[in-house]
Amino acid sequence: MTVNNVNVLITGASGLLGRQILTYFENAELHSKYPVDDIEKFKFNCLGLCHSRAKANLRPIDLNNFEQVDKLIDEFKPNVIIHSAAVKRVESVESDYDGAVRLNRDVTGYLAKVAAQLGILFIYISTDYIFDGTNPPYKIDSQTNPLNKYGKSKLLGEEVTKEASENHCIVRVPILYGFTEPNNYGESAINVLIENVRKGSPIKIDHQQTRFPTHCIDVSRFLARLVIKYYQENGTQPNPVRGVFHCSGLESFTKYEISCIMADAYGLSKEFMQPDLTSDFTLRPKNAQLDTSETYKFLTYQPVMLFKPSIKECLENFV
Ligand SMILES: NC(=O)c1ccc[n+]([C@@H]2O[C@H](COP(=O)([O-])OP(=O)(O)OC[C@H]3O[C@@H](n4cnc5c(N)ncnc54)[C@H](OP(=O)(O)O)[C@@H]3O)[C@@H](O)[C@H]2O)c1
Repeated sequence: MTVNNVNVLITGASGLLGRQILTYFENAELHSKYPVDDIEKFKFNCLGLCHSRAKANLRPIDLNNFEQVDKLIDEFKPNVIIHSAAVKRVESVESDYDGAVRLNRDVTGYLAKVAAQLGILFIYISTDYIFDGTNPPYKIDSQTNPLNKYGKSKLLGEEVTKEASENHCIVRVPILYGFTEPNNYGESAINVLIENVRKGSPIKIDHQQTRFPTHCIDVSRFLARLVIKYYQENGTQPNPVRGVFHCSGLESFTKYEISCIMADAYGLSKEFMQPDLTSDFTLRPKNAQLDTSETYKFLTYQPVMLFKPSIKECLENFV
């Protein structure tokens, strides 16, 4: 069985994650290089959206403009919407909470309702920051308690997604790394740590908060597997591919450890970097590890990207 031309609409495709999702879904070579079960039987027809960062292969749109959204959905006729667009910087959300809620909650709610009306698969990308980090690992039904406004706004996005239809999917991911735009490694809160290494002057780096850096390729593989499984369950009522899923890398590090790995990867000195053991956990969780066991078993999925070689590859152009 080959399933051709599953129309996949990807919001936020000019961003760190959305860009990789688009590239992965469209690229048969990447399917062979980084496979997931049954991907060879599928062909995706994708449309990626951007907002301020126009690119030849992307359609620009302000998702706050629902008229434009309706028109685009009417034209493209998606079978799947992967909603990756968001305000994701913790500091940006603290300074403009209303603006972030418009995108992270209201736009999400609108897209989720439209998808429910059309009876198509809607996937909302959420975050581990909906947890407070005091009691890991977190299962899909663990108590949420975001510490910061970003986490709150993303949790509101989860709520409106669930309200629109119990058939929708919510995929929570932790801190991401991957291929950034040229000269813009600040796109990823992991890639940007190379700045500590390049500095060469004394610096203290957090050594208390545990992070599970996850490669955007692995998230893209995960999403492809979710879509494939959804199609394979087609006709099962209700389709079991619904609800909350956890997607995370399995290796854990502090930011200090990550900086040392980067230094080692390029044979740079790490003497000037010191572990900082003084951070407080008021705005960011100490350890919001996502328990992936249930999700990975259900989808027959495992991440494949190992952190040390992968981060070296991602930073190759910068060092
Ligand atoms: N990055 C992480 O470490 C991380 C961790 C956990 C969860 N997540 C979640 O993963 C998802 C993707 O994050 P990311 O790192 O890829 O974010 P990102 O790099 O900041 O990208 C955000 C995307 O949203 C688009 N966007 C912003 N405002 C828009 C608007 N009004 N209309 C249409 N599009 C708009 C941006 O378009 P332009 O750039 O073209 O303006 C960009 O494509 C988000 O839902 C985020 O909450 C990310």
